[in-house]
Amino acid sequence: MNASCDFAQFEKDLASVAEQTEHALAYYLSRDFSPLYRRPNESSHAEEPSVLKLVDAMAYSTLSGGKRIRPYLTLSVCRMLGGNEEAALTLACALEMIHTYSLIHDDLPCVDNDDLRRGRPTNHKVFGEAGALFAGDALLTYAFEVATHARLSSDAIVSAVRALSEGAGHYGMLGGQMTDMDAEQKELSIEELCALHDMKTGALIRTAARLGCLSAEIDDVHIFDSIDSYASDIGYAFQIVDDVLDRYGDSRLLGKNIGSDAQSCKNTFLTFFSREEAMNRAKALTERAVMTVSAYEGSENLVLLAQYLLQRNK
Ligand code: IPE
Ligand code: IPE
Ligand code: MG
Ligand code: MG
Ligand code: MG
Repeated sequence: MNASCDFAQFEKDLASVAEQTEHALAYYLSRDFSPLYRRPNESSHAEEPSVLKLVDAMAYSTLSGGKRIRPYLTLSVCRMLGGNEEAALTLACALEMIHTYSLIHDDLPCVDNDDLRRGRPTNHKVFGEAGALFAGDALLTYAFEVATHARLSSDAIVSAVRALSEGAGHYGMLGGQMTDMDAEQKELSIEELCALHDMKTGALIRTAARLGCLSAEIDDVHIFDSIDSYASDIGYAFQIVDDVLDRYGDSRLLGKNIGSDAQSCKNTFLTFFSREEAMNRAKALTERAVMTVSAYEGSENLVLLAQYLLQRNK
């Protein structure tokens, strides 16, 4: 099979999931969904100018495109397992809100100090630092509300809320962010860098896969473990490629400035390895991820996702 043909179809599928996700996110951020607007007889603070400004700041970053890799992963796992796609999309939106909040805060002057994200000025450049801080906080909080609207059993919703919290919290993404910041100006060992990547980026990618499993309410530990290993490997490869693109990528395609890691004296894969060695490592992780899931019926999209992420330029 010709790889470029495969990716042409894959890119169409990814674009379709991205559109579905953007549409659902827009709904959750609109007055059609907000419980505040659904209670016409009760006093509502939803029209307060400051609340509207906060929602604008949340929507500015949430509805600004993005590859929507995590929603694609959640939906692909859901489809492979014959799960509830509508519920998977709701959970994917919750996770995408958390991911977006992590980017808003990651770009702040006190963190990575970046001024371009998804091809637009970063949130704090438009809404100010406090506005960006609150928009991120509000997205994180709202994500949990949205997750509870997934049409699944109460047990599955509790598990989804737990998975979101584990992925985002102090031993997940935020633990990685703190480690990343503390490691500026000092040298990590390769083991420490791997642990950092695993938390900073791997945790939310594993959560995306786990939400797909939950939308199917499966109790097969074997499949669950395989999908978790797959997600762990692609998450790790994803951050290696992110590090490589930060040095060698094209800012116009990426929608973010390159050279940010060097400017902040970050430890990245390129601190330890050449570009080629780093990419070989990402390739080996991708191959292992593909091996882990390819025996399962309906895993084609997961296989293509792993391969696509390895050769991405944005
Ligand atoms: C960027 O994530 C942050 C990292 C974890 C490296 P993405 O590359 O998925 O960002 P978007 O959502 O496509 O903008
Ligand atoms: C951040 O990693 C990952 C997050 C948890 C937001 P980076 O700082 O490398 O992400 P980019 O390169 O700014 O997207
Ligand atoms: Mg960062
Ligand atoms: Mg950054
Ligand atoms: Mg980066």
